[in-house]
Amino acid sequence: MAEDTSTEDVCSKCSGTGWVLVVEDGTELVKRCECAEAERRRRLLAEARIPARYRHCTLAGFEIWDEANGTLERSRTLVQEFVDLYPEVERGLLLMGPVGSGKTHLAVAALTSLILDKGVRGRFADFTSLVLEIQMTFGGSGSSRDILAPLISTELLVLDELGAGKATQWVMDLLYYLVNTRYLEKRFTIFTTNFTDIPKESEESLGDRVSARIRSRLFEMCRRVEFSKLTRDYRRQRLAHERERDGR
Ligand SMILES: Nc1ncnc2c1ncn2[C@@H]1O[C@H](COP(=O)(O)OP(=O)(O)OP(=O)(O)O)[C@@H](O)[C@H]1O
Ligand SMILES: [Mg+2]
Ligand SMILES: [Zn+2]
Repeated sequence: MAEDTSTEDVCSKCSGTGWVLVVEDGTELVKRCECAEAERRRRLLAEARIPARYRHCTLAGFEIWDEANGTLERSRTLVQEFVDLYPEVERGLLLMGPVGSGKTHLAVAALTSLILDKGVRGRFADFTSLVLEIQMTFGGSGSSRDILAPLISTELLVLDELGAGKATQWVMDLLYYLVNTRYLEKRFTIFTTNFTDIPKESEESLGDRVSARIRSRLFEMCRRVEFSKLTRDYRRQRLAHERERDGR
């Protein structure tokens, strides 16, 4: 049978024990086997709660599909740099740009790569869902502490869609607590947002959405990675492309 038996394969280095005997400077030491570390990283990836739709996202898979838009390449390069230098980086990232520009793709690609290549413990969270989850605790389902604690303590947090949705003052205070604690502890966070600092008239700025206190902390916590306001929607582009290909 040509079934995939990889999970049943017993590691030849450690015979499946997860430990190997090595000799260093004439001394015998027991060390964790590579296979155990690979297993740990697969577990970390599952624990990161990356949505199914984004699990395929990689930096290499981020196409520079519009040559005229220099911010595609620039954004990918800045995110790649963050991944390569991690943990020797000063700040996290704040990905800003219009709908469909590829912000979540790049944020998830960075998180996935750091988990698999560097064994980083991280979490993905979507701001809108987070707001709703916290709001529901008001009706007695669960506690906001249980929701926030893992997001506060994780080494690398991706907080997607910052400023989206409708949050009450009480929820905003809790989100301030989340951001501020990570700020105080100097933990790295990758934020994505559709809001900008210089909005068109009648539109709200990121600061308007999340409060000036949070926006101010982001300046210190994050390097800004901004897609041009003119960046087109990749989703729409992909659909048009598929239609053209299929002659529809
Ligand atoms: N440059 C790219 N190369 C390959 N795939 C891309 C690229 N940009 C976006 N995508 C894909 O297009 C879809 C939309 O991208 P994504 O969700 O990252 O956009 P976004 O900027 O987060 O949009 P929104 O503001 O609506 O959240 C995803 O499936 C993503 O993988
Ligand atoms: Mg997004
Ligand atoms: Zn092994």
